[in-house]
Amino acid sequence: MDNLERIEVLRETAHLPEKELKALLAGLGAEEEEALFAAARGVRERYYGKDVYLRGLIEFTNYCRNDCYYCGIRRGNLTLARYRLTQEEILQCCGEGYRLGFRTFVLQGGEDPFWDDARVCALVRAVKKRWPDCAVTLSIGEREKESYEAFRAAGADRYLLRQETASEEHYRFLHPGEMSWAHRRQCLHDLKAAGFQTGCGFMAGSPGQTLDNIVEDLYYMQEFGPHMVGIGPFVPHAATRFRDEPAGTLEQTLRLLAVVRLMIPEVLLPATTALGSIHPRGRELGLMAGANVVMPNISPQATRDKYLLYDGKVGTALTPDEGVADLIRRIDSTGYRAVVSRGDHREQADIGREISREG
Ligand code: 5AD
Repeated sequence: MDNLERIEVLRETAHLPEKELKALLAGLGAEEEEALFAAARGVRERYYGKDVYLRGLIEFTNYCRNDCYYCGIRRGNLTLARYRLTQEEILQCCGEGYRLGFRTFVLQGGEDPFWDDARVCALVRAVKKRWPDCAVTLSIGEREKESYEAFRAAGADRYLLRQETASEEHYRFLHPGEMSWAHRRQCLHDLKAAGFQTGCGFMAGSPGQTLDNIVEDLYYMQEFGPHMVGIGPFVPHAATRFRDEPAGTLEQTLRLLAVVRLMIPEVLLPATTALGSIHPRGRELGLMAGANVVMPNISPQATRDKYLLYDGKVGTALTPDEGVADLIRRIDSTGYRAVVSRGDHREQADIGREISREG
């Protein structure tokens, strides 16, 4: 098989044998790359048309009990000023976000013991009560099954938890011994069983990552059947042991986005902030490679520069209004259009109304 044939098989069947998938990821020429992206756009448009879903991302705590070796907010980073927003501050962000047209709020944070189940549930209930037409996505790491069930019962709709790597050996290279690859996978299963629209994912070009690891991740995700997949480039952070490691590349990340679109056709796939941070048009290029979601930061200005998972993160200087205007211009430039919609997975899709260029 040559690469164009591989792309065609992947587009038609959403599957490719390991040997062929590796060959495709390892050696793709510029013209073939464009064929891959075009195939990914075709599949994306079949399910989601030209719509781009927006998520208002609120980074509500940078306290974390974990010490992931790659992450800027790991607990061992003593140079970082820690913060946590109050429930009232978070609700205020949501209000701003709602005014700007967001109908999904992503509440993301480190694994902060202060935010126990009772507090998280109270927060979710408060958001859903004030904005019943909005979806709430949680991204607060590993908990037990009972906690996930409680969050779901409180009204949370979606949950993001990247597996980080499907390889146990690679997981051990990226995380301290007290963290468990098996538990992380268990969490993903518990989330799905609890009825969440569930997101998994990994970093492109993380330290120690091999082509075998990537292929393992792709098959793992396809088998898991996520509603959402987060893939962004690894970007080194100065206060981590991986400070001198190279960042994941634009090219590799775009190819992975396109391949994920073909392997999991209906998936909600964000063009991540990390992608926008390694290239000035990274997110737009992500949309052109099959992504259909963008998650701008709507956290309060004062905390923006403290939630740095990696160096050089974009968008920390813009106000929410400026950030959204900037983003809508960027989305327009791709020929896609931002919509005011919860932006559910295709199984539960609603119909969005277009946001004008003026917002
Ligand atoms: N570069 C890119 N992404 C990172 N994340 C954490 N640290 C980094 C980094 N240095 C990602 C992880 C995590 C998500 C919230 O952010 O994959 O799951």
